[in-house]
Amino acid sequence: MGTDITGMELIPAPVRVGHQGRCGFLMDRATTITAQDGTENTERWLRSTLGAAFGLPLAPGGEDAPNAIRLRIDPALEPEGYRLSTGSGRSVEITGGSSAGVFWGAQTLRQLLGPEAFRRAPISPGSRPAVPFADIEDSPRFPWRGMMLDVARHFLPKDDVLRYLDLLAAHKLNVFHFHLTDDQGWRIEIKRYPRLTEVGSWRSRTKHGHRASELWDETPHGGYYTQDDIREIVAYAAERHIRVVPEIDIPGHSQAAIAAYPELGNTDVIDTTALSVWDTWGINPNVLAPTDNTLRFFEGVLEEVLGLFPAATSPFIHIGGDECRKDQWKESPAAQARIDEFGLADEDELQSWVIRHFDTWLTARGRRLIGWDEILEGGLPADAAVSSWRGYGGGIAAAEAGHDVVMCPEQHVYLDHRQDGGADEPMPIGFIRTLEDVYRFEPVPAGLSEEAARHILGTQANVWTEVMQDRARVDYQVFPRLVAFAEVAWSPLPASAERDFAGFERRMATHYARLDALGVDYRPPSGPLPRQQRPGVLGRPLEGPPPNV
Ligand code: ACM
Repeated sequence: MGTDITGMELIPAPVRVGHQGRCGFLMDRATTITAQDGTENTERWLRSTLGAAFGLPLAPGGEDAPNAIRLRIDPALEPEGYRLSTGSGRSVEITGGSSAGVFWGAQTLRQLLGPEAFRRAPISPGSRPAVPFADIEDSPRFPWRGMMLDVARHFLPKDDVLRYLDLLAAHKLNVFHFHLTDDQGWRIEIKRYPRLTEVGSWRSRTKHGHRASELWDETPHGGYYTQDDIREIVAYAAERHIRVVPEIDIPGHSQAAIAAYPELGNTDVIDTTALSVWDTWGINPNVLAPTDNTLRFFEGVLEEVLGLFPAATSPFIHIGGDECRKDQWKESPAAQARIDEFGLADEDELQSWVIRHFDTWLTARGRRLIGWDEILEGGLPADAAVSSWRGYGGGIAAAEAGHDVVMCPEQHVYLDHRQDGGADEPMPIGFIRTLEDVYRFEPVPAGLSEEAARHILGTQANVWTEVMQDRARVDYQVFPRLVAFAEVAWSPLPASAERDFAGFERRMATHYARLDALGVDYRPPSGPLPRQQRPGVLGRPLEGPPPNV
């Protein structure tokens, strides 16, 4: 593992580093890129990023041109694996198992070129960027290396989403779980239901801090992505070999949709026309009515979603399924009639019936359903996958039952949780999850059978934004912990099963300089800067270590 790599400080650590040294070759205005078929996106990416950072043309070069970055595919390598070698001759060769592997190799090349490679314009004009002498073989531990971003609680403008895709790519993360709908906002344009965004995309005010806080931000908050914005985000992600998992959260977390279309709610229990987009946090009882009308409505939503998120890059569609309170279903004659009609045991089975409906619907259209681990309650079709968030338990049960699983337990990788116990931590919520805690997170729980372990597709960090009002707050919560998470998701677990945090911290010294060059507003190791603090805004810190569930 690359902890002793002088002058390289690669993160995530590669699988193997052979020869290494400071002196490889110096790039200059004559350096070209030779791109074999299938590597054009990496060629474009190298030219736009390294070209801008160093003020170099990086023009296309001929097959045997010296002084070149050569991009090749060798299907004998693992699909996302790559080999990067510099050495004899003035060139660097990146060979990937597929175009994705080539792209991840290019990310390594950028790190090898030093923090200046992460800037958007040269700060040392005329100096020649040095590619160190290196021979690196690398491939990821998990095929699913993700981050979930909640743009419903606080909207993040499109540019910020594109920037996050770049930040994921820089850390070799390849799944962007896009949490597009919730009680507090509907963020995706659906042409056949315009009120979802006209009404559902904004709220008149917002609780400032945790819901126990007495503060309100009286500024109306909102925003949504047009369908063209979504197409651009999807294409931008695809150029970076990032799959997008859109989430339309049903049947709970749906108050914004009900505010837009009151007939979606339990009209026989409450006056749903009185509901507005929710302005505070927590789990509320206003869930979708399990009626045919609701099913048809969300089939219509999903038809547009499938059109916007093509199967090649969005094989999974997330339908939420978490924290659906059943109070209204218990009181609703219509919901109870459904339970009787289908011979269901209770409201949990009614939720399961809704999920099964969309599983069948998505499967018929060549997609796979994924949902939060509550979808296990009441039974789940075999091909559905589970995001295990309430701990390892749901994921273990799902994997042992043969479902694919993404491990994202809130006790470990919820980046909204505070990262230090200090009094100056802004709006502190949840358990203390330090950089080291995240670094030591293990996605495959001990004791899992070998067969079940094969169902752990990978892992993701989740970023819920109730207390993250803008990009700076998101950056603060996400970084540097996402860097540690990226190494968990990509790099092999050492034979000892003990990760070398001291070595990681040494490499972080260089990585902070990369984050500085990128303009990431991370939490400094010494604690929040004055402008990153939020004195007087109440959070809800949980005391003690997180339960080991
Ligand atoms: C969740 O955190 N409610 C999935």
